[in-house]
Amino acid sequence: MIILMRIDKLLCEMNIGSRSQVKELIKKGLVCADGRVVKKPETHVDENTVVITCQGKVYRYVPYVYYMMNKPSGVITATRDETDRTVLDVLRAELSKCGSLTGIPLKDISPVGRLDKDTVGLLLLTNNGELSHNLLSPKNHVPKKYFVKTDGPISDEMVQALENGIMIGQKEKTLPAVIEDRNENQCMITIMEGKYHQIKRMFHAVGRNVIYLKRLSMGTLVLDQRLSEGQVRELTKEEVDALCLKT
Ligand code: URA
Repeated sequence: MIILMRIDKLLCEMNIGSRSQVKELIKKGLVCADGRVVKKPETHVDENTVVITCQGKVYRYVPYVYYMMNKPSGVITATRDETDRTVLDVLRAELSKCGSLTGIPLKDISPVGRLDKDTVGLLLLTNNGELSHNLLSPKNHVPKKYFVKTDGPISDEMVQALENGIMIGQKEKTLPAVIEDRNENQCMITIMEGKYHQIKRMFHAVGRNVIYLKRLSMGTLVLDQRLSEGQVRELTKEEVDALCLKT
């Protein structure tokens, strides 16, 4: 499908510069589309196929981008903040380290769902709003798996309560959770919802405080164990296809 877009708008969306900066680059004859110098900012190009060259660098527009982050502790799940470092700051810093900041439509990227400031682990960041909506929609019951450490042993009764569903101060009980690999004061827990502070509130309801929380998976997407906290990588095509297919 041909989708025509003004070249100055496309360059902005690719994070190559502000509207005035890219107009200047175009006027100076520094921008080529499919091998031809473009002189007018209002020139329309096919965003799906055009190959842009700007100051010697080659860019191909990708409408959707998908990143997996191992979210570090101490960072908030937001796109911007006056005081705290955000996951978007982490993403920007990581991408600029590997020199791939330009060409990416960063301004539209947001985290899919929210992890608390002290929670670590899997966070998906994308500008694909439809996928994000589908993953977060309560109707879709997308499973999210966490590794949890608590401030005391987790008993059989506690597991039973968590697996049955439990009141956490809302009208209805939580949906049944799945507890695996329990060992003293730690376990894996899979939940099908994403209520505010849900895991902490569920454990609090059975008399335990969560002292460490790490998300391991969301739907079909599994945290890449090679990513240390604060590291980011692009999703593979297979990971994107699986997410889009299953949600
Ligand atoms: N549940 C929580 O309590 N915190 C998180 O960050 C994620 C799930």
